[in-house]
Amino acid sequence: MKILTTAAFLHLCLCATAAVSDSGATETALWAAPGDIATLPCYTVGNVTPTLTSWVKNGRAVMRSDASSPSPSPAGQRLVVTNDGSLQIRSVMPGDEGTYLCSSTLPGNNTFHARVSLQVTSGPGNLSVSIGPATALSNGTLVVSRGSSVSFHCSGSSHPSQQLSWAFRGASSSNESLASTSGSWLDFRIEDAQPSAQGVYSCRAHNPVSDQAVNKSTQLLVYYVPDRHPECMWAPAQDPSHFHFNCTWFGAYPAPTLRWGDDDHRGDPGARSIGSIYASDTAESLSVTLNRSMLTDGQTLRCTAQHRALAPGTEKSCSFTLKPPYPEGEPLVTALEATSVTLTCTEAVSLPPANTTWRKGLQQEDIVPGSKYVLSEEGPVLQLKILNVSKDDEGVYFCRSENPLAVRELEVYLTVKTSSAYTGAILGVFIAALIVGCAAIVAKTFYFNRHRICLGDGFGHMEEDRGDVMSLVESDDEQIFQDAVPRLPPLTNGHQTTLVQIHRIPSTDHEDAETAGTRPQQQDDTVQTEEPVDLVTF
Ligand SMILES: *[C@@H]1O[C@H](CO)[C@@H](O)[C@H](O)[C@H]1NC(C)=O
Ligand SMILES: *[C@@H]1O[C@H](CO)[C@@H](O)[C@H](O)[C@H]1NC(C)=O
Ligand SMILES: *[C@@H]1O[C@H](CO)[C@@H](O)[C@H](O)[C@H]1NC(C)=O
Ligand SMILES: *[C@@H]1O[C@H](CO)[C@@H](O)[C@H](O)[C@H]1NC(C)=O
Ligand SMILES: *[C@@H]1O[C@H](CO)[C@@H](O)[C@H](O)[C@H]1NC(C)=O
Ligand SMILES: *[C@@H]1O[C@H](CO)[C@@H](O)[C@H](O)[C@H]1NC(C)=O
Ligand SMILES: *[C@@H]1O[C@H](CO)[C@@H](O)[C@H](O)[C@H]1NC(C)=O
Ligand SMILES: *[C@@H]1O[C@H](CO)[C@@H](O)[C@H](O)[C@H]1NC(C)=O
Ligand SMILES: *[C@@H]1O[C@H](CO)[C@@H](O)[C@H](O)[C@H]1NC(C)=O
Repeated sequence: MKILTTAAFLHLCLCATAAVSDSGATETALWAAPGDIATLPCYTVGNVTPTLTSWVKNGRAVMRSDASSPSPSPAGQRLVVTNDGSLQIRSVMPGDEGTYLCSSTLPGNNTFHARVSLQVTSGPGNLSVSIGPATALSNGTLVVSRGSSVSFHCSGSSHPSQQLSWAFRGASSSNESLASTSGSWLDFRIEDAQPSAQGVYSCRAHNPVSDQAVNKSTQLLVYYVPDRHPECMWAPAQDPSHFHFNCTWFGAYPAPTLRWGDDDHRGDPGARSIGSIYASDTAESLSVTLNRSMLTDGQTLRCTAQHRALAPGTEKSCSFTLKPPYPEGEPLVTALEATSVTLTCTEAVSLPPANTTWRKGLQQEDIVPGSKYVLSEEGPVLQLKILNVSKDDEGVYFCRSENPLAVRELEVYLTVKTSSAYTGAILGVFIAALIVGCAAIVAKTFYFNRHRICLGDGFGHMEEDRGDVMSLVESDDEQIFQDAVPRLPPLTNGHQTTLVQIHRIPSTDHEDAETAGTRPQQQDDTVQTEEPVDLVTF
């Protein structure tokens, strides 16, 4: 309890004896909290015991005591007049507030008057705190997302006016005062909440008169997620029948829930639904080991991250669609003895990436890099360089590509030529022979077709033949020969081989082909106009 004594009262008390004969004009203001013992003073100067004291509140007598006939106040009585005439309220209640007047008769028949105004404090109470927008966890802790704006509101009731203050206790500050005021409410706002704003926010209301204080604390968590998607990785397991898939998503708080599953492709292709779920955990990384027999071509494995800080409808995930390996390259390679040759293999489609290796011979022996072999890898392209090629190097090589789905091989056949076999003269003679040979073939064909026309076999057959291209490919050359079929069986070694391939080309190429000037002249005009063979290339 606090007693606020006015200066006037002090002055008057000091000269109380002078004032005793007066009607009395002392004024005291008192605050008391409910439950307090309040003592309302009357004649406080000197140690004179008044003979008679009466107290009046708001015009009504409340208490009277007569020193000449003391009646001991019964125990438990709330209001008591003490020996010195003070009025004691043993347990202040709301409603006790008011103006009390005391009249004391002092020995010598002097009277003394005093006025005491009593105020009963209330509160602080009904403290209410709201923080938002935020979501509440089951334990009452509030959660906001990084970057959001958060408003803090605190209000309470108190009489007299309370002191309100917001304080923050976080990882970096043990007790930081954020705002304070004297009043019934106090608000503040955080724009762009950062993880450093995570902590305990307390609103404290303090009644300066009663010195009563209440506070309310709320824990606020600031959740966040990284902008990027999770990362899907893979690794072969030690057990060759299994394969590891690892998903990581760092930088989220708290740890996200990661889930490895299949996309279900059976349903509506627009709406992705979940197929099987292989693993799920609340952690920054989630690894799952799948039996290879569970993996199929075209299957989409997806790692999905779930987090409170992700806005509804947004999803963070990574995925990949499994594809078997498909090594590609030139199936036939010819090299000159004592030179070096490079075999090339491209493995660009495999998912997860294949383990691609070069093997030699039908036994598929591993190729050990060294003075003979140089292995190199650039992106999807694997190269095997064979140095100082000899006849021993001739044969079949395999570019073997393996991923969890399948093993596929590209077969490359290396032919080694001795340098003496290659001369310009031989080539020249050969080309000349070819031209003659081709002319003969063409002439023969013309002749044959004319015959068919004469037999009246119809134009239907001729239309079918129209647009054919004859290409002669000579393998006795230093060049590498390409073929549309990736796995041609190995050619027999050491023999000059002439491949004759006939491709159909669209009839629009017809005109161009006619201007190529390679068509042998024909005697027969009828045949010439309808001639289906247009182009001969070497
Ligand atoms: C005191 O005063 C009252 C009246 O004011 C009177 O009746 C009484 O007799 C007086 N007593 C003494 C002891 O003078
Ligand atoms: C708290 O609120 C209730 C009702 O709203 C009111 O009766 C009570 O007096 C208030 N308490 C304080 C300390 O203001
Ligand atoms: C409430 O729960 C959250 C998450 O479970 C936890 O981080 C926090 O410490 C808890 N708060 C309290 C006050 O127990
Ligand atoms: C926190 O600080 C305020 C003033 O900034 C002080 O009144 C209060 O006692 C402090 N509380 C603690 C627990 O240190
Ligand atoms: C809040 O009130 C509790 C008791 O309810 C008290 O232990 C704590 O020290 C108070 N904190 C502040 C900052 O006033
Ligand atoms: C998954 O990746 C994380 C992060 O790179 C790593 O710490 C963890 O060991 C990996 N798990 C497995 C099973 O490879
Ligand atoms: C993996 O799948 C194969 C074929 O279904 C099965 O024989 C094998 O037992 C499986 N391995 C494990 C460890 O489940
Ligand atoms: C690739 O396969 C070979 C055996 O064919 C093995 O020695 C090597 O460790 C594998 N590499 C990887 C990265 O798995
Ligand atoms: C190339 O190989 C032959 C035998 O095959 C050997 O005699 C020759 O010295 C080799 N040349 C080089 C440069 O290694």
